[in-house]
Amino acid sequence: MSFEIDFSGKVAVVTGAARGIGRAVAIALADAGAKVVITDIAVEGLNASKNKIDKIGGECRTHQADITVKEQAFGLIEEAQRSFGRIDILVNCAGILRAVSFLETSEEDWDATLDVNLKGTFLCCQAAARHMVQHRAGKIINLASNAGKVPRMNNSSYCASKAGVILLTRVMALELAKYGITVNALCPGGTDTEMIRIQAGDPKVLDKIIRGDLDTYRAGIPTGRLARPEEQAYMVLYMASEYANHITGQTFFVDGGQTMV
Ligand SMILES: NC(=O)c1ccc[n+]([C@@H]2O[C@H](COP(=O)([O-])OP(=O)(O)OC[C@H]3O[C@@H](n4cnc5c(N)ncnc54)[C@H](O)[C@@H]3O)[C@@H](O)[C@H]2O)c1
Repeated sequence: MSFEIDFSGKVAVVTGAARGIGRAVAIALADAGAKVVITDIAVEGLNASKNKIDKIGGECRTHQADITVKEQAFGLIEEAQRSFGRIDILVNCAGILRAVSFLETSEEDWDATLDVNLKGTFLCCQAAARHMVQHRAGKIINLASNAGKVPRMNNSSYCASKAGVILLTRVMALELAKYGITVNALCPGGTDTEMIRIQAGDPKVLDKIIRGDLDTYRAGIPTGRLARPEEQAYMVLYMASEYANHITGQTFFVDGGQTMV
């Protein structure tokens, strides 16, 4: 039995694609033959991602959108539909993290985090699912986090938002299964992107995150390193492929074993 992932003829929308995991996912999908519509609030990074996709001969359109604004999230999906005629895959990678102690978390920290991570994901999912329902097929992959399963120091709004994404994913899976749409969540652990480097601040903090420390992340990473963004993208490729047709409502941890203990 040969195992080959080929997305020729498929159209994928990737949010948060200006850098980090979203960029790696967009490149991997394009490399596997998908036409990709990439979106982010950060235009410069978006264009840099498109350049990388162009270089490998992929087909890519950029669309700037703030996914927390309903008109912009729905506009993104409309634009993808107009450009390529259909949407087969949606990968929600856009996210933010405010590392603040629970006692000091402001209402603004809370609202901003829940708005991007949970409401933005909801809006993009609903807009895309309404198109997918018409084709009776579709794959939706939501980037949650292992912080949606285990508590982390100074991440109350982030943990709550990601736990919300995990259960939103499962409810959607339940309701959309009859339309041939699968919905799954990917939970990265510490992954080497600007998000974690900005949060960690200096290399000593990053080392504590990897080794585990009561004042930082609590649980360490048994493999002793951060994931590479591409390692998250490989999992997305599988989840978006026909090999995963019978998998829905599931949560996959790509975290070097961080949450097994
Ligand atoms: N890096 C990690 O260690 C890690 C671990 C677990 C989960 N995750 C999750 O994976 C996803 C990708 O993370 P990353 O490390 O690549 O982060 P990142 O900060 O490098 O990239 C996130 C992207 O989302 C975009 N974005 C933020 N707000 C937006 C908005 N309102 N509208 C549109 N785009 C917006 C940013 O501009 C940025 O390009 C996020 O959901 C994150 O929570 C990351």
